[in-house]
Amino acid sequence: MIDLTDVSKVYRTDTIETLALNKINLSVRNGEFLSVMGPSGSGKSTLLNVIGLLDKPSEGQIELDGEEVSEKSEREIAKIRNEKIGFVFQSFHLINDLSVLDNVEIPLLYRELSASKRKEMALAALENVGLSARTKHFPSQLSGGQKQRVAIARAIVGKPNLILADEPTGNLDSAMGNEIMKILHDLNQNEKTTIVMVTHDENIAKQTERTIRFFDGSKIND
Ligand SMILES: Nc1ncnc2c1ncn2[C@@H]1O[C@H](COP(=O)(O)OP(=O)(O)OP(=O)(O)O)[C@@H](O)[C@H]1O
Ligand SMILES: [Mg+2]
Repeated sequence: MIDLTDVSKVYRTDTIETLALNKINLSVRNGEFLSVMGPSGSGKSTLLNVIGLLDKPSEGQIELDGEEVSEKSEREIAKIRNEKIGFVFQSFHLINDLSVLDNVEIPLLYRELSASKRKEMALAALENVGLSARTKHFPSQLSGGQKQRVAIARAIVGKPNLILADEPTGNLDSAMGNEIMKILHDLNQNEKTTIVMVTHDENIAKQTERTIRFFDGSKIND
């Protein structure tokens, strides 16, 4: 599903150069649920951003679904991102002046779908995360756990085969965090969705199939 070969990422400003990723080799198989741990600043979010094609590596190759993506155009990359990848962030990233339903429909706006088809798919995704009763609410009217469930519905509405989650339980208490983990587990089991999840919480990481650890931009285990 994901193959990184000697992937490095350097951030440069006028005065500092940061090696955020240092020659990372990583294979994630189709249907795997992988967690990524490591101290603050060790490169975890950078890893997700390069896997998710939000950021380009400075060096190295990235293959998704057997396709080399480093050489593709912005347009092709945007299409892959839209169709194959769903993102979930610690701070939800919902749009406050859109309803729950409209937030979930966003990824579908880039596809050629009728309004009724979009609505049907968004309602199905919301049902999947147990939020059918909140479709007309606005994000400010939801609890943190509910907001994250909306964000997951938005991530899965386009039926991606890969979910990238950056500390999805980081802003939630443990009960709500467990609820989110259950949804991710069900998705992984039932839809065979591949999931790569960053977490600071050993108890959360333990619930995944495999944990990789980062330190100072390097992967320190297999
Ligand atoms: N856009 C950027 N410009 C310059 N440096 C950056 C940028 N993004 C990240 N970095 C640097 O790259 C390194 C890795 O950052 P990254 O965000 O990947 O860490 P992280 O492991 O996700 O940390 P945290 O647990 O705090 O989220 C850090 O030293 C950071 O300062
Ligand atoms: Mg981070």
